[in-house]
Amino acid sequence: MTAKTPGAPAPAVAPAGALPADATPAQRVQWLRAEIERHSHQYYVLDAPTIPDAEYDAMFSELQALETEHPDLLTDDSPTQRVGGAPLSAFDTVRHRVPMLSLNNGFEDEDVINFDRRCAQGLGRAPAAAAPADDLFGAADAADNAVEYSCELKFDGLAMSLRYEDGKLVQAATRGDGETGEDVTANVRTIKAIPLKLRGKAPAVLEVRGEVFMYRAEFDKLNARQADADEKTFVNPRNAAAGSLRQLDPRITAKRPLSFFAYGLGELQGADRPPTHSVMLDGFAAMGLPVCDERRVVRGAQGLLSFYRDIGQRRDQLPYDIDGVVYKVNAISEQEQLGFVSRAPRFALAHKFPAQEMTTTVEDIEVQVGRTGAITPVARLAPVFVGGVTVTNATLHNEDEIRRKGVHIGDTVIVRRAGDVIPEVVAVVLERRPADARAFVMPTACPVCGSHVEKLEGEAVARCTGGLICAAQRKQALLHFAQRRAMDIEGLGDKVVEQLVDQGIVRTPADLYKLGVAKLAALDRMADKSAANLVQAIDASRETTLNRFIFALGIRHVGEATAKDLAKHFGKLDNLLAADEAALLEVNDVGPVVAQSIANFLAEAHNVEVIEQLRAAGVHWPESEPAARAPLPLAGKTIVLTGTLPTMSREDAKEKLEAAGAKVAGSVSKKTDYVVAGAEAGSKLERAQALGVPVLDEDGMLKLLADSAAVQTGDAQ
Ligand code: IVH
Repeated sequence: MTAKTPGAPAPAVAPAGALPADATPAQRVQWLRAEIERHSHQYYVLDAPTIPDAEYDAMFSELQALETEHPDLLTDDSPTQRVGGAPLSAFDTVRHRVPMLSLNNGFEDEDVINFDRRCAQGLGRAPAAAAPADDLFGAADAADNAVEYSCELKFDGLAMSLRYEDGKLVQAATRGDGETGEDVTANVRTIKAIPLKLRGKAPAVLEVRGEVFMYRAEFDKLNARQADADEKTFVNPRNAAAGSLRQLDPRITAKRPLSFFAYGLGELQGADRPPTHSVMLDGFAAMGLPVCDERRVVRGAQGLLSFYRDIGQRRDQLPYDIDGVVYKVNAISEQEQLGFVSRAPRFALAHKFPAQEMTTTVEDIEVQVGRTGAITPVARLAPVFVGGVTVTNATLHNEDEIRRKGVHIGDTVIVRRAGDVIPEVVAVVLERRPADARAFVMPTACPVCGSHVEKLEGEAVARCTGGLICAAQRKQALLHFAQRRAMDIEGLGDKVVEQLVDQGIVRTPADLYKLGVAKLAALDRMADKSAANLVQAIDASRETTLNRFIFALGIRHVGEATAKDLAKHFGKLDNLLAADEAALLEVNDVGPVVAQSIANFLAEAHNVEVIEQLRAAGVHWPESEPAARAPLPLAGKTIVLTGTLPTMSREDAKEKLEAAGAKVAGSVSKKTDYVVAGAEAGSKLERAQALGVPVLDEDGMLKLLADSAAVQTGDAQ
């Protein structure tokens, strides 16, 4: 087993002054033990880890390696000889009749190849040598004597033992130290994924082992609810699951969206052990237990590695967090033959993925100015390898977020990078805050143009008020204008835009159309050929579509979809330019915020000027007729209101009817289509009855509105 994640930095330095750089192995072992004990108390007992799991794992692996290298340093009280922490005193303790062990970890292909070789050798069916170097296609694995494995995911949650007696759930226990866990039956009974009674014929005793976890989407929702209620939010789904399980009040647990996957067997009475692990999982599923679908039976090391790669590629699309995959020798008889070594089975291996969370330090917090002037604080980080890449910046979103997370300059923080998502600071490791840590202060002036920075009531984001005066906003606006989904000007990247704006050559998008090859070729790192290509790309962008053009303008809240709706609705740019807020509100999916934003944009003379300059520069598109507007459902109907309606004021009713296109009149005539009458209706009702005009009560009116709207949208049968 390797001691470190590939490319990962060494375990973080000790709290100040704890260990000299030239420490002896004995001192290092001592120090690692103390640190591991401290963190496992935080993690297992208090549910408040202060470092990411990967860092803990790295310390643990290093300690194991040192103890193997120096067996004289191994003592009974080393954390490697005892897994986890003490159970919380508030829960009853449960003795595991079959100990709950843990898994050996592997990180690299080589670890997997060695694991497979050890298994094959242990089962007396493999040559001692590795597969020949020219065995590119894994022919050796395909041979009959290759070991068969069951591959599954390594869920990032909490190990749980579920005891079923005669098919009924009688006890649920956490792993604790592997020998004794905590009785969390009352809490686990609230987890809907866990059956209280098994389906079909159940053995006398069946102890199912598995993982309690939280789906990411559920986690996000839970955190949003917690934040709304001013309650503590959780760092990640694993912590949320742990915190929820350790609640003394099961009513709180019941509100937490916990889930479960079964992956193993503890005690079994009254039935034969299944022949293979995969058959056992199928059996669990048949009994109504949740078993993850992402599993596969393979042969040999190549089979294991191809499962690892497949899952690795899809890791970020999975709806829950995993930190690796697990390989288990499939035949139970072979598992028994291989047995265990100290705390872990020889027949299984956890093959870990690069950690998605690591700690690093915040060297500074700077602000960036976006296209709409939004000022985003960004943490400049000491480089850290996380989620498979080296990260040096992480967004802090806005000032409120910094306050909420309590990030100071100089802090050690947990950084998360999952998939293509922008790296994020998840939490501060408060215990590592240095004495000279500084709080972040939001600048009151834009760092780029010096304009006033404003933060509107109810908005989290601070903005530079400089608009296009601000070079930062101008650059972003130009990049937005040129992007593929907008005007599609290939070759107009940030390096070019940076120079064009800084040298005052380009101020607005319209200036782009005045650029010649000579001007461009004079820029840094711009060859004649690239300059010519760029001019050509700018020229080609003159021919566009109205929706691209509208999107390219970079109006706040107007994304591609809204730009399409606007183009379709108005057909011609001049129709859009002439639209006021009310007219904008008639556009599909345009609400008050978007309508106001467009109206504000068009009210700025300089914006309209740029639009005119662009048209003058030859930017054009095919125009069409405005989309025919569907007539309002009650258009042409005359309705009279009289008396007092039970729930609605006369004004409200009038507004509703008029919005649907009806004319609301004051007196009843032969031309009146309906009279809506409430309590104490007088002469108008009598007149309606005399003339044979249909009379409706409030319900009848609401039904009329609903029916006519349904006919309009084609909902009616
Ligand atoms: S099997 C004897 N299978 O990983 C082997 N464990 O370090 C017992 N885990 O505490 C574990 N997914 O919480 C196994 N598919 C899986 C797993 C899994 C996650 C966790 C489990 C255990 C730890 C082992």
